[in-house]
Amino acid sequence: MSGKVTLEDLGIFDGINEIIATTEKDGRINAAPLGVIRDGDELYIRLFMGSHTYENILATGSFVANVTHDAWLFAETAIEDLTEGYFMRREGLAVLKDAEAWGLFKCETFALDIIIAKVELVAGEVLRKDFRAFNRGSSLVVEAAVAATRYLALRTDSYYEELMKLQRIINRCGGPREREAMERLMDRVNSYSHI
Ligand SMILES: Cc1cc2nc3c(=O)[nH]c(=O)nc-3n(C[C@H](O)[C@H](O)[C@H](O)COP(=O)(O)O)c2cc1C
Repeated sequence: MSGKVTLEDLGIFDGINEIIATTEKDGRINAAPLGVIRDGDELYIRLFMGSHTYENILATGSFVANVTHDAWLFAETAIEDLTEGYFMRREGLAVLKDAEAWGLFKCETFALDIIIAKVELVAGEVLRKDFRAFNRGSSLVVEAAVAATRYLALRTDSYYEELMKLQRIINRCGGPREREAMERLMDRVNSYSHI
């Protein structure tokens, strides 16, 4: 399927598609959540300065989008590095073993504080098709990962309050994996709060 895969094959539709981007520089693989914004045939990413993802995309002009609905991976990659064991090679590219699909995107980058880059799908593959009932806890873990990264960057109290609220709902609606993801986020946020 590689090379001929479409955005729809990869599950990428209009709106913001939350994926986990894998990028590489100097032999080090990095994984972090990233939004791929689709508007018809146009695709963009917005990159905030200072992340490894920003540096690597600026250096290489490409990233791999790992499509997964495992909220635990979003939370973990938002604030931690993954060990080598989480990755495999597909066509020489670093891909998450748990991805359901992956796509290689080329980017035209502009060196600004916040890069808005036009991106284009060049190759990809569907690895497995998985479905499950919608779980509110799972989507709220992704929301909590966003709030955690913003809290860590900006230290705004309202993000911490949001995290506490989200944790209550995740504890009620999520399964053990979602609860663990949220606990790990809160541990990180609380440990950084004292620095
Ligand atoms: C669901 C989600 C979506 C995100 N989308 C973006 C994005 O589109 N652009 C961006 O620069 N950061 C985004 N972030 C924040 C980065 O993932 C975060 O800053 C991360 O720590 C960067 O890690 P890195 O230094 O390993 O690249 C997002 C975070 C989450 C949880």
